[in-house]
Amino acid sequence: MSLKLTVITDTHYYSPQTGTSGKAYENALMRSQKLLGGAREVLISAFNQIAEDKTSDIVLIAGDVTNDGEEAAHIEFREMLRELQSKGKKVYVITATHDYKEKCKKYVGDEIKEMPGLSRGELFDFYREFGADEAIACKPEYMSFVVQLPDNVRLFAINDDMGVEGEFLDWVKEQAEDARKNGQFIVAMTHHPIIPPSPMYELIGKGDMHRNYKDMRKEYADMGIQLMLTGHTHTHNIGKIFSDRGNAFYAVSTGALVGYPAPIRKLTICKDTVKIETETVKSADIDTNGLSLEAHLKKQLIGVIGDMIKAAGSDIDKFAYMGQAISIKPKLIYKFGWIIKPVFKWLNSVKFGTFAKWTKKETGMKKSDWQNIKNDKVVDFIISLVSNLFSGENNLTTDDPKCRIYIGFLKIIDSILQTVHVNLGKIVKVAPDATSLLAPLACQGEFDAYNTELKLFDYISENESREITEHVPEYVKMKKSKKGPVEQDIIPMIKHFSVSLADHNTISVLAMICCQNPSMNPMQIVGALENYLPQCMPDHATCHRLEIYDAEENIFR
Ligand SMILES: [Fe+2]
Ligand SMILES: [Fe+2]
Repeated sequence: MSLKLTVITDTHYYSPQTGTSGKAYENALMRSQKLLGGAREVLISAFNQIAEDKTSDIVLIAGDVTNDGEEAAHIEFREMLRELQSKGKKVYVITATHDYKEKCKKYVGDEIKEMPGLSRGELFDFYREFGADEAIACKPEYMSFVVQLPDNVRLFAINDDMGVEGEFLDWVKEQAEDARKNGQFIVAMTHHPIIPPSPMYELIGKGDMHRNYKDMRKEYADMGIQLMLTGHTHTHNIGKIFSDRGNAFYAVSTGALVGYPAPIRKLTICKDTVKIETETVKSADIDTNGLSLEAHLKKQLIGVIGDMIKAAGSDIDKFAYMGQAISIKPKLIYKFGWIIKPVFKWLNSVKFGTFAKWTKKETGMKKSDWQNIKNDKVVDFIISLVSNLFSGENNLTTDDPKCRIYIGFLKIIDSILQTVHVNLGKIVKVAPDATSLLAPLACQGEFDAYNTELKLFDYISENESREITEHVPEYVKMKKSKKGPVEQDIIPMIKHFSVSLADHNTISVLAMICCQNPSMNPMQIVGALENYLPQCMPDHATCHRLEIYDAEENIFR
């Protein structure tokens, strides 16, 4: 089995009939991290690029196909899809929440006028030639379908506008069971994210996630859906979790095709792996002021984030208006406006030299380590963090002096919060402290978001359990200090071992270790990991002894 698929999402087709000039249009563009006018040209170019690629005949589109549900946009976009089909590509589409609206906006000079939109009820039939017509199973009332692809691969196109629950969830389960029985690999696509690209996104975009995402990703995993393609966030990233039963689940989120970096994913599904590659739209017939398309789109993204940060320090109303560009709800901004404004006012002027001095103890850096960056503005670093969140680029490393200072500063915030007995975890709920909430923005995730190979796992049914050794490092050794540099292989000493995911970037390991010395310091295990498997060492690891048992496994103390 080796099937190649092309994946794009959030095409947000913007019809020129919506207006491409005037004050009202400029205002809308001001808070848009994606293209409005010009989106059509980028899509034409992207579709040509896809049509020319003879390695893949199947194109998947994971929702938000139009700017905001305009009827004109749907009609024009459908024509483009038909043209792509006529060039030999099979196109499968789901729609999402930006694809239906009763009354849509149209920009005419200084004014915002109305133009007709399509209703949600009209969408399924409107796009039925792109999947539903050839479905082997179909659930029109939930706008979802299953298609048989070549090489024993089945596509599950799951519209999640209203969540996936009740009889709809039962239907998805039935379909998954049928696919498993027939030896089919399932590729699912839905619109809303199931694994957030970062805890910070989870905080600000919680309402935009797949409904009940924490339970649903495990449900999907235990149905045998191992690969889920998503959109919506306009971020490019890949996440993985295991269900409690041990089934794997990958969520592959693709960035918006009309925003930086205009990504087109290529998937190759093989027996044991899914190879993922990313190319970007090379050029488009739009005015980029002499820049490459990529640089032009990046400039727009960075410009919007920069303006937003400036507004956060000076004008909360403007910040609330612009924040919607990156899914921040105005309500949230007004709630915390009293603290946002002074903090950002100060952030807009502060330089790295100031932070470097404050974080001297935390970073252990000497003056010579940060001399070169002392006049660099902190705000530019923050912009790069947000930009990287969208683009999925990993151009920062934890050795980078700016990163070290940033993480050092987060540690200071956490110790202040601890001193004043403020439990940030209880307030934000998505991370236990400021470091866990914000440090991932500067750290590389488990996967390269652009090009990587995902290992596929065998399905574990309800009554089976996976051999734990799959998750155990091949060997873990410890030093026994009293006897000098004697090393002990602790693998034979491990009686039970289980791994679970506490959240998307925290792994929790529960182990029962049989040893002669009950006062053994459990942190030696972390030390052993650091020494022998540095590639597996997490950014932060801690080890606690929970209970001590006697030889009969009764609690000793
Ligand atoms: Fe979108
Ligand atoms: Fe969306």
